[in-house]
Amino acid sequence: MKCVLLGEAQIAARVRALARKITRDFAAREMVVVSLLNGTVMFLADLIRHIPLPMRLDFAGVSSYGSGTESRELVFTKELRLDVRGRDVLLVDDILDTGKTLSCVLAKLRRLRPRRIKVCVLLDKPARRTESVRADYVGFRIPDEFVVGYGLDYAERYRNLPFIAVLRPEIYTAPTP
Ligand code: IMP
Ligand code: MG
Repeated sequence: MKCVLLGEAQIAARVRALARKITRDFAAREMVVVSLLNGTVMFLADLIRHIPLPMRLDFAGVSSYGSGTESRELVFTKELRLDVRGRDVLLVDDILDTGKTLSCVLAKLRRLRPRRIKVCVLLDKPARRTESVRADYVGFRIPDEFVVGYGLDYAERYRNLPFIAVLRPEIYTAPTP
């Protein structure tokens, strides 16, 4: 680890603010929250407990990284089970980086004809964007560094850290054990 980028209290305050905003925007109808595995675990749990609205929750599994830090081919590891047709959908992801994951998932979701889709991400790394995709709710804009913790991983590790930290580049440039 190099340094803590976002501490626990800072994350908690921001997640509550996002939840309040989402609550105002979605108040009229039951929502379907679609969360992308596995990076959203902590963010999702903290976010939805502050959204006091009727909702159904589903997960989609998408994996883009293998064990490295560069985006690779996208693989769907879990399909949606809930019917989102005509529904208000909140799509939740941990971080918007190149945008490949979200643009691919959004295209797939739109084919299911929801009434509307809003995108919520904890982190946004605009420096690396290659796709024209934007999030409606963003926790924090961060610089172009590889971060871990609060659900985010490097090679499936560090997800359990309660804060978000920048990973030392030596860690991801060395061969993985
Ligand atoms: P994108 O498809 O390039 O936008 O990447 C999105 C996915 O890459 C996220 O859902 C994360 O799983 C992963 N990712 C991108 N940047 C980071 C990072 O700094 N740390 C950990 N995971 C990341
Ligand atoms: Mg990930």
